[in-house]
Amino acid sequence: MALSFCIRFEIKKQVVLIYYLWVWWITSICVKARNVSLMAGERLVSNSSLCSTQGRYCLSFGGTLNREYTHLVIVSNASFDRGAVIWLHARNQPVDTKSAVLSLNKSGVLKIEFQYSKEIIIYSSPQPIDNTVATMLDTGNFVLEQLHPNGTKSLLWQSFDYPFNALVPKMKLGVNRKTGHNWSLVSCLTFSLITLGEFSLEWEPKEGELNIKRLGKVYWKSGKLGNNGLFENVPANVQQNYQYVIISNKDEDSFSFEIKYEDRNYKMSPEWWLSYKGKLMGSEGELANADICYGYNSDRGCQKWDIPTCRKPGEVFQKKIGQPDLDNAVLQDSKSVDYNDCKARCWRNCGCNGFQEYYGNGTGCIFYSWNSTQNVDWESLNYFYLLEKPAKLPLGKRRWIWISAAIATALLIICSLILWIAIKKHKYGLKGT
Ligand SMILES: *[C@@H]1O[C@H](CO)[C@@H](O)[C@H](O)[C@H]1NC(C)=O
Ligand SMILES: *[C@@H]1O[C@H](CO)[C@@H](O)[C@H](O)[C@H]1NC(C)=O
Ligand SMILES: *[C@@H]1O[C@H](CO)[C@@H](O)[C@H](O)[C@H]1NC(C)=O
Repeated sequence: MALSFCIRFEIKKQVVLIYYLWVWWITSICVKARNVSLMAGERLVSNSSLCSTQGRYCLSFGGTLNREYTHLVIVSNASFDRGAVIWLHARNQPVDTKSAVLSLNKSGVLKIEFQYSKEIIIYSSPQPIDNTVATMLDTGNFVLEQLHPNGTKSLLWQSFDYPFNALVPKMKLGVNRKTGHNWSLVSCLTFSLITLGEFSLEWEPKEGELNIKRLGKVYWKSGKLGNNGLFENVPANVQQNYQYVIISNKDEDSFSFEIKYEDRNYKMSPEWWLSYKGKLMGSEGELANADICYGYNSDRGCQKWDIPTCRKPGEVFQKKIGQPDLDNAVLQDSKSVDYNDCKARCWRNCGCNGFQEYYGNGTGCIFYSWNSTQNVDWESLNYFYLLEKPAKLPLGKRRWIWISAAIATALLIICSLILWIAIKKHKYGLKGT
């Protein structure tokens, strides 16, 4: 009796499993058959995706290292930057991976549902709209549109209006004057945490410049756009591939870029990325670096501000591999402070000579005094940041000093030699007469 019950129970489990597999297969087929858009009434489950017509970008769930939690993301699918997340919805609000579903319901509400009726509304109109479609475009924009009976569409919502830390060609920075909505990039908190970081990339329409701000304070400015179509403070060789598009009218004040030479062999990611340290990276290299702006320097677009009296122009934090002595270290174990906070606090504190991130995810700080940085275990594979005094004369200048010294010595020897010969000759001459 017991045995047969067990067997029946096992069979039942298998039937249930097969049923689930079948449902999963059907749902994934349903979405995969028409995987560019989501129609009203359809759902996108957490292990499937919507890909643009040419397959350049896909919308799916992902974006976290922790498999239990997920975000709705747009991922680049091109071979050269496969898997790069160019957009992410609700960065401070991850959802449970197992139950996450993106749905567009028959009232035109686009939402993420998870864990038994919890939901995050992405778009909802005041009046229900019955004919809607959400589409992943080849530009990297995910759009929700209303379909009209006459065959036209109108835009209800788009992912380009809510940037993450990447700027995609044709995506705008600036302000929409009709709605007052601002477009700007915001960096991640650390290399591994996608929550809101400290740096933003913004378009300043009055000045016609891009700004990188840290907690609202301007660290870097692009300078004006010259007649050559290039920004003053961005190296020419890293921006020559871009065509800048600046729009200023009653509807908007915006900046965007496009790739000038759409080359098939162009194997770099076309996006611009704002790193958690305030670097702006393009396909050809670094467009800007707010991490080198200390307040005393104005090179490469850095802005000036007052520095603590104990700090001298030219002092910089250098990344070192090694482990300072922890004996006199001061710990700040807050998970909300990041590299930039640690750096700024160490810079302001005259007793601080170096710092290190505390947690593996890049949050928290350990501050070192001069004592601890005199005693570094250079064998350790940890890294820390050490405040270095202004560099000695650069190698080039030092070499010139050596060369000058060598020439001076040579001249001295030659002069002595000539003098010696002259004296000899003089003596000889005297003898001769
Ligand atoms: C669509 O979702 C919204 C928000 O959850 C809900 O209020 C509305 O009733 C839903 N409409 C339909 C047709 O299910
Ligand atoms: C199509 O219909 C919509 C809504 O009814 C309207 O706003 C739009 O102007 C129409 N377009 C054309 C080309 O008729
Ligand atoms: C540095 O070391 C000296 C001697 O070892 C000690 O007297 C001093 O208090 C230390 N300073 C700090 C800031 O820890």
